[in-house]
Amino acid sequence: MIPRNAGVVINISSASSYHHMRYWSIYSATKKFISHFTHILSKEFNNTGIVFQVVCPFIVDTKNLKTKASRFPSTSLLSFFSSFFVPESRTFVKQALCSVGHITKTTGYLAHEIQAYTLALPELMADFIVDKISLMIRKRAIRRNQRVAAKKDSS
Ligand SMILES: NC(=O)c1ccc[n+]([C@@H]2O[C@H](COP(=O)([O-])OP(=O)(O)OC[C@H]3O[C@@H](n4cnc5c(N)ncnc54)[C@H](OP(=O)(O)O)[C@@H]3O)[C@@H](O)[C@H]2O)c1
Repeated sequence: MIPRNAGVVINISSASSYHHMRYWSIYSATKKFISHFTHILSKEFNNTGIVFQVVCPFIVDTKNLKTKASRFPSTSLLSFFSSFFVPESRTFVKQALCSVGHITKTTGYLAHEIQAYTLALPELMADFIVDKISLMIRKRAIRRNQRVAAKKDSS
């Protein structure tokens, strides 16, 4: 890229980098590192044709995701919110790519920008909400692991 003086580097962080996510210590801190790192690189290569971007999505419907939006009946309000806030990976990528070269840091998706602004509260308030969400996800993960272990034991 340097000899060509051109290129695009897109690093994938996460919205978990915006907050101090209890129970997600390694993930959240690593994602914060990616974000910080990308910003520094973009400064270091400021006078070149190389573009840096860090993408910090909220939830995207990938194979990583255990709860699919399609789980809800398609006519329900939950389904509407779920598909609005949890895009399919292709939809997400299509929209995120439109922002390359325009913005160094982005959630990549309009509905996720709304979520980020909603959580841009004073730290104490944001922490209160994020802690509740983290705890809820942790409890669900523990329950899921217990279900999987029980299934293994019974087979
Ligand atoms: N999905 C979300 O809601 C979400 C939200 C925020 C941030 N992110 C971030 O987005 C990134 C992608 O996540 P995703 O949801 O798209 O997950 P995913 O669907 O599970 O995709 C992960 C990809 O990483 C590859 N991979 C995993 N371990 C690897 C290894 N050791 N070496 C090389 N490749 C490896 C996998 O390859 P194979 O297909 O060969 O297994 C797969 O292509 C992650 O960094 C995640 O933290 C995701």
